[in-house]
Amino acid sequence: MKDIVQEIEDYFKNIKAVYGPRLFLDHALQDAEVTSTEPVTPTSVKTQPRPVASKKSFKSHVPPQTSPELEAYFQEIKECTACALSATRTHFVFGHGNAKADILFIGEAPGQDEDEQGIPFVGRAGQLLDKMLRAIGLSKDEVYIANVLKCRPPQNRDPLPDEVLKCEPYLQHQIELINPKILVALGRVAGNTLLRQESALTTLRNQVFTYKERPLIVTYHPAALLRNPRWKISSWQDLKKIKKLLSEL
Ligand code: URA
Repeated sequence: MKDIVQEIEDYFKNIKAVYGPRLFLDHALQDAEVTSTEPVTPTSVKTQPRPVASKKSFKSHVPPQTSPELEAYFQEIKECTACALSATRTHFVFGHGNAKADILFIGEAPGQDEDEQGIPFVGRAGQLLDKMLRAIGLSKDEVYIANVLKCRPPQNRDPLPDEVLKCEPYLQHQIELINPKILVALGRVAGNTLLRQESALTTLRNQVFTYKERPLIVTYHPAALLRNPRWKISSWQDLKKIKKLLSEL
């Protein structure tokens, strides 16, 4: 009994810390999520209109990679022109974090903030990702964060198959260099792209897949959680699943 009470207390404490004080415990909303076929895209958050600035106004403050191997690989590929996205990017967003991380988070592609700064998940979604990590006892310095695509697609549209074909080997080599125990895809698009599926997020969330010989879990994109706070209960369940899996590996 004490365990259940503790569990409930922890749940509310963490939900409040991560998503704020507003509660969403309505079962109808939970059911709506389970049956929803609407794509879970972070689009509305990622496409907020912003003042247009010229490329030159962004200075690169990209911190060095945390291992010589990753830094050398970054230097090797950062001028990539394999697809058309290279023509419109401000920065090639290689990835950032601990070169020996046990857990590697994989987003879909850089958004505007990330393109401007050259670092993944630095915008509003990234701030929520920070809080989600802290809720499971991790900091951004302990994990590695990268994207399927290294360059921002115009208007944050979904990655095109040809772009994935050209860019995915970069991610796969990063996985080899970092050698994480577990991979976490953030969002339906990242999950489906890596797994070559067209599944709903609810389907993807309920399985542990294998990618590059490692367990891959798919969970909500933080930007989707910003748009749909009712998913925070399920998101919290995913975070606990990730933490448990990590502790077992
Ligand atoms: N969304 C992503 O998928 N990746 C980022 O780096 C930022 C937002």
